[in-house]
Amino acid sequence: MSPLIETSNLSCGYGRVPIVRDLTISVEPGEVVCLLGPNGAGKTTSLSTIAGALPKLSGTVRVAGKEVTSAQPHVVARRGLSLVPEGRGLFYRLTVAENLRLRRHRQSSVGIGEVLGHFPVLKNLLNRRAGLLSGGEQQMLALAGALIADPQVIMLDEMSLGLAPVIVERLLPMVRTIADQRGMGVLLVEQHVLAALKIADRGYVMAQGRIVAEGPAAELQRDAELIEASYLGDRKEADAPGAA
Ligand SMILES: Nc1ncnc2c1ncn2[C@@H]1O[C@H](COP(=O)(O)OP(=O)(O)OP(=O)(O)O)[C@@H](O)[C@H]1O
Ligand SMILES: [Mg+2]
Repeated sequence: MSPLIETSNLSCGYGRVPIVRDLTISVEPGEVVCLLGPNGAGKTTSLSTIAGALPKLSGTVRVAGKEVTSAQPHVVARRGLSLVPEGRGLFYRLTVAENLRLRRHRQSSVGIGEVLGHFPVLKNLLNRRAGLLSGGEQQMLALAGALIADPQVIMLDEMSLGLAPVIVERLLPMVRTIADQRGMGVLLVEQHVLAALKIADRGYVMAQGRIVAEGPAAELQRDAELIEASYLGDRKEADAPGAA
């Protein structure tokens, strides 16, 4: 089976100068893969480009085996890729039910009832405006909205932004369960490095627009503290001569 996401030497950015260079990553069916890295590393730029929202400068993108390098976002979405953007992408003045109905396209074989099976909490909130939900509930709605399009692969950009760590610890395993149950691929951008690696199969670490490390999640977990420290530019301890 083809990878669900496959980029090859992808370079992209907002003008003619690339911000992301030579990005070669893949996500297989049923796989949870995290894309880690400090602020400004190019994670959101990469996801937006894969989703077709930003032009490519060079390289290729394939989704579910089909080249989508020059495709518009709606074509990439129809190919089976769903993006939950930074900031959740909800209609805050509309109700939970309305948000879900808006995200569901005609070809989708997934109904609202099936998606709510993953997030029972939302069942009692169907008539509440999305803007009045808690942060965790909003994120579940964003995930439910992505799933209702019946995607083969979803990309989650900083799902846990602004959420209490205890909520993050609850949401991430849900992502793992959904990937397992549906055989869906997940590309996860996450600042909670250790929590993300705990549910992931593999990971990539980006810095300054390039992949600087990659490997099985279990291996990267051993370096999780170092990765997190590098986010803050706080490398003094690790770099200091004589440091353990
Ligand atoms: N619309 C834009 N126009 C020009 N440059 C941009 C634009 N959006 C982002 N950038 C720049 O591109 C670089 C990568 O940004 P990006 O948002 O991809 O980083 P990120 O890894 O997602 O960071 P964060 O963890 O803070 O979300 C940054 O230097 C940023 O300033
Ligand atoms: Mg970002």
